[in-house]
Amino acid sequence: MLPAKLTLALNNQFNNELQAAHSYTAMAAYFSKKGYHGFANFYLVQSQEEHFHAMKFYHFLVTMDEKPVLQALAEPKNHYADAMDVLESSLAQEKDVTSHIYALVTLAADLQEHATASFLDWFIEEQMEEEKLFRDIITRMKNIEEGGEYFLRMNDEFAARRMEEG
Ligand SMILES: [Fe+2]
Ligand SMILES: [Fe+2]
Repeated sequence: MLPAKLTLALNNQFNNELQAAHSYTAMAAYFSKKGYHGFANFYLVQSQEEHFHAMKFYHFLVTMDEKPVLQALAEPKNHYADAMDVLESSLAQEKDVTSHIYALVTLAADLQEHATASFLDWFIEEQMEEEKLFRDIITRMKNIEEGGEYFLRMNDEFAARRMEEG
């Protein structure tokens, strides 16, 4: 068992990760409709990774003899101005997740809940990588035209992305 306040916060993050998966699927749909199937694949893989993160919280709660509780998902943003809008929304979403993870780390430390602190270490590293991933793509996308030659090369590159676990 865990302190009730911590269980609640971990369960909220379980649901936040599912919400992130939902939102990345909506971003994939933007690219699918445009026919940029490589970018769509990148976002579908991103969505799978968020689902994998959610399941890490699920299994941690179960390991600690707590019950994961599913909440309703909110409608994600379904309309985007252009590819850059999608990427900037992705980075903003990751920054928001990072702040939630930091709040959880602080709470676990305050409660001296060391198992939770150790579990959350993986997420601190992961968020550093997630923010860098989107920052780097945004850098590459600056000053290039959606549908232009370099954009289509990125589209081919993203077609090869596969889910990485761990
Ligand atoms: Fe995540
Ligand atoms: Fe993420």
